Amino acid sequence: MSLLPNRHGLQRIVVLNPKGGCGKTSIATNLASYYSLQGEMPMLLDCDPQGASMRWLEKRSRLRAPIHGIAAYRNSLNMTRSWQQRVPRETRHVIVDTPAALEGPQIHDLIYEANNLIIPVLASPIDIRFAARFIAELLLVAQVDLRAVRVGIVANRTRRNTKSLRQLMRFLSGLKIPVIAVLRDSQNFVNAVGEGIGIAELPTYQGREDNRSLQPVFSWLDQWQPSQEKLLNPTKIDDLRLPHGTSLH
Ligand SMILES: Nc1ncnc2c1ncn2[C@@H]1O[C@H](COP(=O)(O)OP(=O)(O)OP(=O)(O)O)[C@@H](O)[C@H]1O
Ligand SMILES: [Mg+2]
Repeated sequence: MSLLPNRHGLQRIVVLNPKGGCGKTSIATNLASYYSLQGEMPMLLDCDPQGASMRWLEKRSRLRAPIHGIAAYRNSLNMTRSWQQRVPRETRHVIVDTPAALEGPQIHDLIYEANNLIIPVLASPIDIRFAARFIAELLLVAQVDLRAVRVGIVANRTRRNTKSLRQLMRFLSGLKIPVIAVLRDSQNFVNAVGEGIGIAELPTYQGREDNRSLQPVFSWLDQWQPSQEKLLNPTKIDDLRLPHGTSLH
């Protein structure tokens, strides 16, 4: 049974790091905002029982570009998920916000079905140690195949010219995984979450610098090609019980 909808060509972006407070929800909501501004109906799938992404969406004005939100945490992991059958036709991106302290098997399943994985990491000694362990587990234990899923790191809440940023960049430069963006510690992220918007929807004079720092994340994701898609077990598609007359293709 699929955890994520897996229509061909659907870009499935999982934002993951079991360390709490590293910026998963901030990045997931900014991605949803970005794709909604591109004129599609992105799907924001909240797997976190805390429901922060769904609260963000509830705050979002109906006058803003629409986002299809799914409170996936309400469903038991083994149930047929009826929401899988209702991916809007115009949706090209599924963004998955994940909880802190996610368990190994769930991590494995999510990554197996993702085609892009974003790992936010904070610049603090504890977060760097945690990230080192987590990334080692991903590669060694979960045996994430870097040819099957693109993995990128976002350094988050950084402060220029600090020792912790230097430590973080030194750690990240030693990995096989690219650092796709460095986001500064900025009140704009806090304000945007409070209003149900992304940084790109803030007034230009206010959001310019943070918006610029987010662009490499969008560009990196835009480089993904459906042809890079790994072949999922076809029975997974058959598992989805579609309402009469609808098609995933
Ligand atoms: N670049 C940033 N600058 C300033 N504050 C930030 C930034 N990124 C995130 N935050 C703030 O840090 C806090 C934690 O961020 P967020 O909720 O996105 O993390 P999370 O990984 O989803 O947390 P959890 O593991 O609890 O789900 C929030 O208050 C958020 O507004
Ligand atoms: Mg969160």
